[in-house]
Amino acid sequence: MNKFVVTGGAGFIGSALVRGLLEQGADTVVVIDNLLTGHLKNLDGIAGNVELHGHDIRSYDQIASLMRGADVVFHEAAIPSVPRSIDEPAPSHEANIDGTFNVLRACAEAGVRRVIYAASSSAYGDSDLLPKVETMIPRPKSPYAVQKLTGEYYMSVFASCFGLETVSLRYFNVYGPRQDPGSAYSGVLSLFIKCILARQAPTIFGDGEHSRDFTFVEDVVALNLKAAQAENVSGNMYNGGNGGRITLNEAWRLLQKFEGVDLPANYAEPRAGDVRDSQADTTLAVRDLGHAPQFTFEEGLRRTLDWYRNGV
Ligand code: UD1
Repeated sequence: MNKFVVTGGAGFIGSALVRGLLEQGADTVVVIDNLLTGHLKNLDGIAGNVELHGHDIRSYDQIASLMRGADVVFHEAAIPSVPRSIDEPAPSHEANIDGTFNVLRACAEAGVRRVIYAASSSAYGDSDLLPKVETMIPRPKSPYAVQKLTGEYYMSVFASCFGLETVSLRYFNVYGPRQDPGSAYSGVLSLFIKCILARQAPTIFGDGEHSRDFTFVEDVVALNLKAAQAENVSGNMYNGGNGGRITLNEAWRLLQKFEGVDLPANYAEPRAGDVRDSQADTTLAVRDLGHAPQFTFEEGLRRTLDWYRNGV
């Protein structure tokens, strides 16, 4: 059986995963995406090789039959963004909690072997220690963080109560080609790159010393593919980060260096719900999943910048 389902498969991370599955020789890749934050253009060049359904995970009836016969379902569909979940808590609750429940219920009933879930490092909140280890008690600071954490809990309960294999991957600020810079809720590096290419100053919320374990999307794809095959991991949650930590000031400085410009950023008040520092301990993911990130921040950022310059 060589059928895979990617919810959110027209999104930034989902479409990269679809490409990874096709490169690995998948027979059938089913994409479920309501195109709320995803885009058909993310599937350019591969649309003919996937089965695309514009259904919404908030409707169990729309998605249930699509899971039949799937070996692994990668659940990437979500309404991301910490500030968006504060501005519009109801839709993100419905997509991120109710939607996740619907996906899991559909998978359990269809007899899917395993579900891999896009969990979030935001679940940690502000920890006393860095790096952040899976055994730390979660301290969510935003609706988004609560929603993603609830999904993790549902994952492990579907493993223990309903016989579904599950693996949750807590992503740490994923960036790379096809991340949509088109909204104020977009990931910070996509916004920074849009600014540097337009020779405009970005806005940094806070003093710029907030730090993130920025993770290149290809490393996240590789991790997902390993999580789909690893043994004795069901019910577990793993960090999906690189193990490094870059401040926003450093990231903006590097982009200026790449482009050979001197463009000081504007600074504004920190955003509500923001975590100050984020860095993954990768020990468990290395041990259990064979996680081996390939991209340094500098290399990933260069590739991403090149893609935006030539691609969009
Ligand atoms: C959070 C989660 C991440 C999740 C993402 C989904 C944490 C640690 N991480 O990312 O796992 O995938 O939500 O959206 O909670 N910023 C600026 N200027 C801007 C935009 C953002 O300074 O124009 C700052 C933010 O205030 C924040 C940092 O950049 O300090 C990163 O923001 P963002 O890219 O939105 O991601 P997180 O909220 O960290």
